[in-house]
Amino acid sequence: MENRNTFTGKIGFILAAAGSAVGLGNLWRFPYLAAKYGGGAFLFVYILLAVTFGTVLMITEISIGRKTQLSPLAAFGKLSKKWGWLGKLATFVPVLIFPYYCLIGGWVTKYTYATIADLGAAAQDSYFGGYVSSSVEPLVWFGVFLALTTLVVLFGVNKGIEKLSKILMPALLVITVGLSVYVVTRPGSLPGIKYYLLPNFKELSFKTFLAALGQLFYSMSLAMGIMITYGSYLSKEEKITEATHKIELFDTAIAFLAGLMIIPAVFNFSGGDKTALSTGPSLMFQTLPKVFNEMPAGRIIGALFFFLVLFAALTSSVSILEAIVSGIIDEFGMKRVPATLIVAAYGAALGAVCSLGFGIWSNIKIIGFGILDFLDFISNNVFLPLVGMFTCIMVGFVIKPKSIIDEVESNGTFRSKGFYSVMVKWIAPIFIFAILISGILQSFGILKI
Ligand code: TRP
Repeated sequence: MENRNTFTGKIGFILAAAGSAVGLGNLWRFPYLAAKYGGGAFLFVYILLAVTFGTVLMITEISIGRKTQLSPLAAFGKLSKKWGWLGKLATFVPVLIFPYYCLIGGWVTKYTYATIADLGAAAQDSYFGGYVSSSVEPLVWFGVFLALTTLVVLFGVNKGIEKLSKILMPALLVITVGLSVYVVTRPGSLPGIKYYLLPNFKELSFKTFLAALGQLFYSMSLAMGIMITYGSYLSKEEKITEATHKIELFDTAIAFLAGLMIIPAVFNFSGGDKTALSTGPSLMFQTLPKVFNEMPAGRIIGALFFFLVLFAALTSSVSILEAIVSGIIDEFGMKRVPATLIVAAYGAALGAVCSLGFGIWSNIKIIGFGILDFLDFISNNVFLPLVGMFTCIMVGFVIKPKSIIDEVESNGTFRSKGFYSVMVKWIAPIFIFAILISGILQSFGILKI
C-alpha cells in the first residue's frame, strides 16, 4: 500500500476521480471518434451507453473499492477466490495504454511549443504529417513528456499537481466553452454543427457501438481498476450514486465540448468535405492550429489551450503510471523507485516503436492497423469491454448485485436498484458481449452490417 494514499489524500474524491478521467480521452480521442463514426449517431450512442453501462460499471467499481478497501489486484480475489485473475487483467490495461498515451502527450507538448514559436507554420496542411513521420523530433518531445510523468511519480509531488488541477481544470472548462462558442458562431459552421448534433442513423453499425463503448470505458477510466482504487479512498459518508453522476457529467461535458469545438471547425476549413473528418488521431493537431491562426490573439489563446490539454494529459498519465507502479509494488513487493524506472523504460521503448510506426516503420501493419492504432484498438475495443463484461458477470452471479446495492445503501438511497440488478446481471454482459464480438468481426471485415 506504499504511498498510494498520498495521491488522493487531501483533496475531494470527485476532483481526483474527474481529474484522472478528464484527459486526452476527452480532448483528443472523443472528437476524432465522433467525427469518424457519424457525428450525431456516435454522440447518441455514447450518451446512451454512458447513462446505462457507464453508470452501472462506475457504481460497481466504486462500491467494490469502498467495500473491500483494497487495490483492484487484491479486491477481486477477496470478493471471490476464483476471480483474482480479473484484477490482474484489469491492471494490465493501463500497461497497454501508457506508452502511446505518453507519445500523444509528446505531440501535445510539441504543439504547445509550436503554437508559441511559429503558429503560421504549425497551421500548414503538411506540418503534422511531416512532424509525426520524422524519426527524431517526436521522440524528443515524447521523452520530455515521459520524463515529466516519471518525475512526478518518482518524487510524489502529487499534492502540487492536485492543487494546480483545482485551478487548471476549471480553466480548461472555461477555455473549452469559450473556444466552442467561437467556433460555433463563425459563419459556415452550421453544417458541421448539424453533423455533430443530429444523428444520422444510417451511419450506425456495431462498430459505432464498439467504438463508443471502448471510448466510454477509456474516458471514464472504467474497467481498468482505477475507479476501484478511488473507491477504496472514498469515505463511508459519501454517496456513491451522487459521486458517479458528477464524475460522468463532468467527463461527458468536456468530451462533448471538445467535439463541438473541433468538428464544426474541420467542416469550416474543409468546406464541408466529410473526408477531412476521418483523419483519425491527427484531427486535433491539424485543425486547431488553423483555427488559432485565424483568430485575433490566436497565438496566446492557442498556447493557452495546448498548455491546458498538456496539463490534463499529464495529470492522467501520472495516474496511469501510478496505477501500474502501485500494482507492481503490491504484486511483487518491489520498491517504488525501481518499479517506476522499469515501467518508464518499458514505456519509452514501446512508445518509441509507436512513434516510428508513423515514419520509417509505417509499412508495418498489425491486422490492418498501424502500431499505435493497434495498441489503442486492442486495449480499448477488446480488453476494456472484456473486463467490463466479466466484472458484471462476477457481480451478477458470484457476489450478487445485492452486495453492491448494500454498499451503496449503507448511506443514502439507491433509487434505481432494480434496474441496476437486471443491468449488471443480464443486459450489460450480454450486450457487451454482442457488441464486442460483432464489432471485432466487423473490424476484420468478416461481418458486414
Ligand atoms: N481517462 C483518461 C482520459 O480520458 C485516460 C486514462 C485511461 C486514465 N486509463 C487511465 C487516466 C488510468 C488515469 C488512470 O484521458
